[in-house]
Amino acid sequence: MERTYAMIKPDAVKAGNAGNIIARIEAEGFRIVGMKQIRVSLAQSQLFYVVHEARPFYNGLTEFLASGPVVAMVLEKDNAIKAWRDLMGATNPAQAAEGTIRKLYATSIDENAAHGSDAPETAAQEIAFFFTTAELV
Ligand code: CDP
Ligand code: MG
Repeated sequence: MERTYAMIKPDAVKAGNAGNIIARIEAEGFRIVGMKQIRVSLAQSQLFYVVHEARPFYNGLTEFLASGPVVAMVLEKDNAIKAWRDLMGATNPAQAAEGTIRKLYATSIDENAAHGSDAPETAAQEIAFFFTTAELV
């Protein structure tokens, strides 16, 4: 079993889509190992997305993540990292496949409803960034 870090971003929480997304995660057979609604500070947001520091969208992205509550989750499944990225769909919702979370709930490439880790190393880092071991049940 693999674990990944998943996050419902501020746009989807604000729009009232967190419940639908969580229901979909359960329906697709993920086990929710950890989950909490939190407010990410700007400093935390800048650290979390430090890999994108040189990109033109970095400031907007980090301010967006800190703009409202998010739902932070750790999901478990066979090949959870790829399975969750497949379920989210393409980064740009205009290119996301029918039925994916970003197709259903994202409004633009910058406000795109969800985050998912992209590799085992980043999954481990991102899980540790947001959760203590005791919070993973
Ligand atoms: O989230 P994902 O791994 O699919 O994409 P990324 O390339 O790692 O980019 C991280 C996040 O930056 C995206 O989810 C978007 O919210 C944002 N982004 C953006 O605002 N404008 C872009 N041209 C590309 C990404
Ligand atoms: Mg990414």
